[in-house]
Amino acid sequence: MIDKKERIKIAIQKSGRLTEHSLELLRQCGLKYTRGRDQLIGFGENMPLDILLVRDDDIPGLVRDDVCDLGIVGLNIVEECRLGYVAAGQAQPFSIARRLDYGHCRLSFGYPEDGPVQSVADLAGRRVATSYPNTVRDYLQRQGIAAEVVEFSGAVEIAPSLGRADAICDLVSTGTTMAANKLREGETILDSEAVIVKTPVALPAEKQAWVDRLLQRIDGVMQVRESKYIMMHAPKSALAEITSLLPGSEAPTVLPLEGRDDKVAVHVVCRETVFWETLENLKSAGASSVLVVPVEKMLA
Ligand code: PRP
Ligand code: ZN
Repeated sequence: MIDKKERIKIAIQKSGRLTEHSLELLRQCGLKYTRGRDQLIGFGENMPLDILLVRDDDIPGLVRDDVCDLGIVGLNIVEECRLGYVAAGQAQPFSIARRLDYGHCRLSFGYPEDGPVQSVADLAGRRVATSYPNTVRDYLQRQGIAAEVVEFSGAVEIAPSLGRADAICDLVSTGTTMAANKLREGETILDSEAVIVKTPVALPAEKQAWVDRLLQRIDGVMQVRESKYIMMHAPKSALAEITSLLPGSEAPTVLPLEGRDDKVAVHVVCRETVFWETLENLKSAGASSVLVVPVEKMLA
């Protein structure tokens, strides 16, 4: 077994929409790991960190119970579990260390297209099916709507056609599932994305130092995700306009061009998405030979 005291244990989703991206994030943080024979543990080779691949719904509990020090899971699941623990009198079961800006989706109501319920207000005295009973009850209570929450563990979207509910509340990503089941998406009650949760238990100093290091590397990875290094030639006269067109950039580096008095080379790091429109605008402002390259690592 893994040494509980010395090594960080991070739980991630075994198979699902967050799995690949979460493993990729850890790799980008420099982690090299080998899969255990059962494929459910990744042993860190170059960091004192091991990965546990588990069901996403189990992740908040594993972190709360200090079986794992960290977990990567959707905010939707974190929030559902947190509300459950709070209702049971546990105030701080875990903390959210970082939002990770991937795995975006939302928890929304879905109403049968031709049914009598078309908004939350219409739900009074009716039934709503969901896998997120705590979150939905909490929302309905805050809205002052008395509706029955019917708990489904999966296939929530078929509850209305089975006659088990008048509406649903479920995760929506592309909207395909709701549309395929003739449901109209209504109010969103939670915007979700992948987050890192951290145990409420204080860690030994050495372990905490590695957790801090990992979080700092995650910050670095997230910063460069959208970042681009842009190089171009620009007329000296248009320098101010060109600089103002570059999204999320700091002061550009301006370099002379051999044999040219009218033009300079401009190099800059942009920390936001660089769209085609931006490049077209740069060209209109007089820029030429525009080159956009990805940034691999950045340490602020
Ligand atoms: C969610 C949700 C829907 C689907 C919506 O399930 O329960 O079935 O995704 O996505 P769409 O809007 O792109 O069609 P998920 O695949 O996350 O599985 P799980 O909730 O059972 O873990
Ligand atoms: Zn799940």
